[in-house]
Amino acid sequence: MCGIVGYIGHQKASHLLVNGLKRMEYRGYDSAGISFLENGKINILKQKGKVENLDRLVPHDLINTTIGIAHTRWATHGFPNDVNAHPHTDNTGNISVVHNGIIENYTAIRTKLKQDGYSFFTDTDTEVLAVFIGAFYEKVNNLEEAVRMALSEVDGTYGIAVLSSYEPDKIIAARMGSPMVLGIGENEYIIASDAAAIIAHTNKVIYLDDGEMVIVTREGFITKTVLNEETKRQIEAIEFDIQQIEKSGFDHFMLKEIYEQPETVKNAFRGRLLIEKGNVKLGGLNSVIEKLRTAKRIIIIACGTSWHAALVAEYMIEQLAHIPVEVEYASEFRYRNPVIGPEDVVFAISQSGETADTLAAVKEAKQKGATVLGFVNVVGSSIARETEAGTYLHAGPEIGVASTKAFTSQLTVMALVALMLGRMRTLSQLDGKRIALEISELPEKITKVFDQLKQIKEIVDEYAHAKNFLYLGRGFNFPLALEGALKLKEISYIHAEGYPAAEMKHGPIALIDENMPVVFIATQDEIYDKVLSNIEEVKARKGKIIAIANEGDERIKLVANHVIYIPNTLPMLNPILAVVPLQLMAYFMALKLGCNVDQPRNLAKSVTVE
Ligand code: F6R
Repeated sequence: MCGIVGYIGHQKASHLLVNGLKRMEYRGYDSAGISFLENGKINILKQKGKVENLDRLVPHDLINTTIGIAHTRWATHGFPNDVNAHPHTDNTGNISVVHNGIIENYTAIRTKLKQDGYSFFTDTDTEVLAVFIGAFYEKVNNLEEAVRMALSEVDGTYGIAVLSSYEPDKIIAARMGSPMVLGIGENEYIIASDAAAIIAHTNKVIYLDDGEMVIVTREGFITKTVLNEETKRQIEAIEFDIQQIEKSGFDHFMLKEIYEQPETVKNAFRGRLLIEKGNVKLGGLNSVIEKLRTAKRIIIIACGTSWHAALVAEYMIEQLAHIPVEVEYASEFRYRNPVIGPEDVVFAISQSGETADTLAAVKEAKQKGATVLGFVNVVGSSIARETEAGTYLHAGPEIGVASTKAFTSQLTVMALVALMLGRMRTLSQLDGKRIALEISELPEKITKVFDQLKQIKEIVDEYAHAKNFLYLGRGFNFPLALEGALKLKEISYIHAEGYPAAEMKHGPIALIDENMPVVFIATQDEIYDKVLSNIEEVKARKGKIIAIANEGDERIKLVANHVIYIPNTLPMLNPILAVVPLQLMAYFMALKLGCNVDQPRNLAKSVTVE
C-alpha cells in the first residue's frame, strides 16, 4: 500500500527520495509525489502512475535541496489521479503532508474547517489533515504543536511526514497503526514507512510506536508521544541487507522468492529442530509455554495466503497435538464479538505484520483476555509488537506482491509448533523424531521440485487460453487448492476456484467440460484413493486433469492428462512441497499472458487498510 520516505541531511534529496520510493514500489500504488523545500518555499511535484514517471518529471539537476518528503499512494479516498496524489498542503501552501492510513473522522473535520473558511481541492482525507495542521499552526505558530494538536483530534490510522517552510530544517513524522521508521545515518536521517527505503543508507533504525512522533532536525531528533511526553527509544538494526531486496539476476522478485524457498524453509527451522529428542525449541514461546501446555483451544487468525497457512496448521495441530483449532478470517473475527477468553490461545499469522484486519483481530483477542501469539515475518512489525510472544518466520523481505516464500515458511513454523505441542501431550519421542527428520529434509526436496520446470511450462503453454481453472485437494491439500487458485487469479487474472475435492459434486461439477483444466493435488495419504475417485468424476466429464503427485505414483498417470511429480514426504508436510509447482504455474502463466507479475493490478503487498 502507500509508502512514505523523507530525508534531511547533506545529500541532494530529490534523487534519494525517488530512489526510496522505488524501493517501496512492490507495496502497490497508483500515484507518486515529492515535496521539497527550496529558497524557503515548498515545491510539490506529483503524478498518477509509476514512480518512473515522477522521476522523469522531477528536474533533479535543478534541485539542490537536502530536505524533502515523498509518497506513493494507493487510493482509498478519491480516484487515483494527479490531484489526489500526495503530498497535500494546508491552505497557505506552507505545510505539506504525506500520509498512509485512513483518517476516519475526516468528514466531520472537513465540515468544521469549511465553516471556518478553509477550502478543499481534493477528495482525500490527507488534505483534511494538512489543512487541519495549518489551522492549528495559525493559532500556535509552532509546527510540532500544530501537528500534535491535529493528531490528538483525528480518529483512524496514520503514518505521516510533515514538511513546512515555516520551520525549514525540520521533518516531523508520526504513527498510529501504520508503520514509521527513522533511519539514523552519519549526519543524515531518513524516515520511511518501510525499512526497504532506508537500508541503502543505514541499518540503524528506530521503529516508532503507535501514538509516537519524531521531530527530526539537522542536529538530531527527539521522540515523544502525541500527548507530549518524551520517549526514550532504542536504536535497532535492520535484519536484512540490500541484496535481499534486489532481483539478483532473476526476472522478477516472485521467481527469485520461489527459488529462495530451500533456503528460507531451512531458515525457518534452523536452530529450532531437536532431531534426536524428536522435539522443537522455540525461544520466542518460552514465556507462554505453560499456557500452550494447558490450552483448551487454539484460534488462528489471518488473511489471504496466511489464512491458507492457518488452515494447514489446523490439520497439523489437531493431528499431532489433539488440541481443537479454529481458523478465522481476521476481518470477520474482529467484528463478530467472538466468544473467547483467558483459556484460549490465539495465533496471528502474517507475513507483513501490518495487515490491518489481523492487527485489529489481535487487539480484539487481547481485549477479551486470550493469550495472543504472533507468527510474523517482518521483524519489529506492528503484529510482532502487539502480541505477547511469538516466532519469526525468518524468510527475509518478500517483495513480490503474491506471497510465496512466506507461505512455505509459515507452514514450516506451524509444523514446528504442532510438533512441539504434540510432544507436550501424546506424541512419542520416536514419532517426533520421524517428523523432525522429515522437516530437516524439506529444503533438499524443494530443490528437486524445480526439476519439474519443463512439465510446468508445457502445461502453461497448453492452458494459457483457459478462462477458468479449478483446484481440488483433500485433507492437508485442501487449503493448498485454495492457495493454488489464489496465486493464479491474483497474478494472471484467470478466474480460478479452490475446493475440497469431494465438494465438487455439490455444485462446481456443473462447470466441468472439455475446456476446464482441473488441478488436483493428489499426494499420498489416507484419502488418496478417494481423490482418485474424484479425478475419475472429472475425467468422465471430459475435464482436463493436471495432477500434483508423489514420485513413484504410476496410477495417477492412467487418469491424469499431466502429472507433476514431487518428492515423497509426510502428508502433513506435503503442502510445503506441493505448493511450489502451483506457484511456478501461476508465475509462468502470468508471464505468458504479459501480466505484471510483481505488481499485479489493484493489489498491495501489505494491506494496512480495512
Ligand atoms: C496473496 C497475498 C495476500 C496476503 C494477505 C495477508 O498472495 O499475499 O493474500 O497473504 O494480504 O498478508 P499478511 O500475511 O502480510 O498479513
